[in-house]
Amino acid sequence: MTPGVKPLVAGNWKMNGTAASLAEVEAVCAAPAATTFETLLCVPATLVERAARKADGSALMIGGEDCHAKESGAHTGDVSAEMLADAGASAVIVGHSERRTDHGETDGEVAAKAEAAWRAGLTAIICVGETREEREAGDAESVVGTQLAGSIPDAMTAATTVIAYEPVWAIGTGLVPSSEDIAAMHAFIRKTVSERFGDEGAAIRILYGGSVKPGNAAEIFAIPNVDGGLIGGASLKAVDFLAICDGIGG
Ligand code: 13P
Repeated sequence: MTPGVKPLVAGNWKMNGTAASLAEVEAVCAAPAATTFETLLCVPATLVERAARKADGSALMIGGEDCHAKESGAHTGDVSAEMLADAGASAVIVGHSERRTDHGETDGEVAAKAEAAWRAGLTAIICVGETREEREAGDAESVVGTQLAGSIPDAMTAATTVIAYEPVWAIGTGLVPSSEDIAAMHAFIRKTVSERFGDEGAAIRILYGGSVKPGNAAEIFAIPNVDGGLIGGASLKAVDFLAICDGIGG
């Protein structure tokens, strides 16, 4: 963790969840509110408003998983940051590797989405991460460095932005980099954003994502410059999500 920085445990439900899943939101909200870290669940757009209603009055924040860069217009099927904010979201994930892969999103498009998030008053969670081939070729830092340079707009502040480092090969696979490799990448990200953004870069939260589970969360969260996690599969069940939160607050 980073001294003086309030950690964040964020869930990403991906394309999972229907009305029945709102019981999990309720269960997270019913847990005692933490004061030492923040919690967020990013849910499908169809659930944002209902989840936000459930979370109203609790410490849990609700977010979206993607947004369009424009405020409104002829973009069938897309959802704008303003729409997410209107539905009760306070954050949105942009540039998740699944969006980059499935929809060919470029760094420039991710940066435009981050600016859209800020325009709507949302925190932008900007995702970066290398593939297995890139890591094995020794290119992990240069790939992530390029993503950081292109995906983070100049107006970034630590209050409006979170960076999530998610090695693509660790997502949904049960594989996790060694603590040394996580520490090295998070130190590289910290150095890169500190050089570019000064104090804002020094204070920004850098989350680790990729196969975080109740059993490994405490070890991962103890790594320097790991300021919380972005949790996929294990965020779908409140009992697992809360156990992961225990890894930070414990
Ligand atoms: P898993 O926790 O399921 O590996 O997913 C991580 C992720 O992609 C979060 O955005």
